Amino acid sequence: MTTGTLTRVVGALAEASGLGDVALHELVRVGHRALLAEVLRVNGDIATLQVFEETTGLHVGEPVVREELPLSIELGPGLLGQVIDGIGRPLARLAELSGVFIEPGAALPTLDPGATFRFVPACAAGDRVDGGDVLGAVEERGGFVLKLLVPPGRSGIVNEVRAGEVTVHEAVVVLDSGEPLTLAQRWPVRRPRPVAGRVEATRPFFTGQRIFDFLFPVAEGGTVAVPGGFGTGKTVIEQALAKFGDADVVVYVGCGERGNEMAEVLHEFRALVDPRTRRPVMDRTVLVVNTSNMPVAAREASVYVGLTVAEYYRDMGYRVAVMADSLSRWAEALREVGSRLQEMPGEEGYPTSLASRTAKLLERAGRVRCLGLPERHGSVTLISAVSPPGGDFSEPVTQACLRVAGALWALDPALAHQRQFPAVDWATSYSLDAGAMTRHFDAHVDARWSSSRARALDLLQRDAELREIAGIVGPDALEDKDRLLLEAAAALREFVLGQNAFDPNDAYSSPEKTFILADAALRAFDRGAAALAAGRAFADLPLADVRRALSNLREAALPDLDAARRGVDETLDRLAPATSDPGGGHP
Ligand SMILES: Nc1ncnc2c1ncn2[C@@H]1O[C@H](COP(=O)(O)OP(=O)(O)OP(=O)(O)O)[C@@H](O)[C@H]1O
Ligand SMILES: [Mg+2]
Repeated sequence: MTTGTLTRVVGALAEASGLGDVALHELVRVGHRALLAEVLRVNGDIATLQVFEETTGLHVGEPVVREELPLSIELGPGLLGQVIDGIGRPLARLAELSGVFIEPGAALPTLDPGATFRFVPACAAGDRVDGGDVLGAVEERGGFVLKLLVPPGRSGIVNEVRAGEVTVHEAVVVLDSGEPLTLAQRWPVRRPRPVAGRVEATRPFFTGQRIFDFLFPVAEGGTVAVPGGFGTGKTVIEQALAKFGDADVVVYVGCGERGNEMAEVLHEFRALVDPRTRRPVMDRTVLVVNTSNMPVAAREASVYVGLTVAEYYRDMGYRVAVMADSLSRWAEALREVGSRLQEMPGEEGYPTSLASRTAKLLERAGRVRCLGLPERHGSVTLISAVSPPGGDFSEPVTQACLRVAGALWALDPALAHQRQFPAVDWATSYSLDAGAMTRHFDAHVDARWSSSRARALDLLQRDAELREIAGIVGPDALEDKDRLLLEAAAALREFVLGQNAFDPNDAYSSPEKTFILADAALRAFDRGAAALAAGRAFADLPLADVRRALSNLREAALPDLDAARRGVDETLDRLAPATSDPGGGHP
């Protein structure tokens, strides 16, 4: 291996000479402690390096050794349930070795080399195989079936197959070229894993959060930008989706966020059980952690590490969801590196390539036909928090995301201030997938899903207009039917769109519960209108009872949903008879 010499160190950047024909993005080990770094620029004999670890104590003249491969991550069994840092080091095993503070230069493979798995082959000697073909599988903890694929770009005839207990680095299949294939495989994180093609998104990524599923549903394989100012609830949303989102695998990238938040995530996830599979949530999760106190260069890499892990499971045919919190910290890392490189800055100091890099990043999401046989589809859904300074959505990172994201869940500090959570501004948020996805809910949950959604959006819109008028003329000057509308919209906001992430009964809302609640709130409005039409005065309507019944329904644990629903029906019958529902009552 070629060894060069360190000629300069400035913060996370360093320069080295004598590295020969070193390539852009190649990895090197810097100094006596062998700190991991990546080549950012090559100029004649001088290579500029981005060091992923703390550089204090590094001296000019120390050796720099080429690794002769790009920044890549080891993929294989045992990755699920792990916490890795921005360059793929397993934090739990590192901590066992070196204590809570990770020594710079500490090197441990992502996968435990000693762990064994039982390999069940799906191929035999003599088979012709191509990139992406499934060669066999191992069952991981919790029953997850991990498939061994022919690495993209390879092909050949199977010469040898080995079944049974193996470590991740033992050959399980040998090709006629002599190349051994192991359960562990490496992939360069900055290069998207290839697919056979993109396919249309057909199913919603079900979040378990009513405001998203009901009003702004996204497709599996979709991308969402979740911008919000300080404390508007971005992290709570990302965590709720990681816990309750309907995905086979969840990759949570904590990028530049507070360390104590990541500690909470870890603590909580270990105790959580998936509401659908009854298995520990952690068994289907990979956490990529690069907190604000870790070096900024690794923060930039962590997002690519997360996406590569996601694509790896996608290629097996799984539905993967990636939560990135937050892309702004990734962009800030780009800015910091760009300015150290003295690149010409663009808007607000971000590199001029910000928009194209963001687009490339978001394009790694999608629903695809996987490479190889048997034929299968997989998806990566990407939910990215964005932290615009001062909550100003016109800033470059939010704008770069919005140009490519398929949905916007815009967080509003005024709603957060009123403790209306999730603080999603329904007037500016959108999902380009909404039409197709609500039709899916029509077919699979209730035929009135999309019409109810349209009515709810209309109600919220009229509510905003009326509140403006009421602000001028005073609420007492409103007609009874308008006062009823304000009341109905308030109930919709509080009991349907509002969802307390810390309420064990309501943190997750099943599709059925979401529809039952929305439907109940809309029927309450219809019954109220019927009562007014029949001559009752607004002041005489038992609206407090209706609110109580809706509140009970919202607080009901899933098994008690039917009883709570009957409670709502009885209360509504006291407003006006059931015959006045336009839909003819609930099914
Ligand atoms: N769905 C929710 N239910 C109940 N409380 C919530 C919800 N969402 C947010 N909150 C409240 O808002 C607080 C701030 O939320 P969060 O930490 O997610 O904000 P953030 O946007 O990530 O902030 P930062 O900009 O600092 O990263 C939470 O600690 C919690 O009290
Ligand atoms: Mg946060």
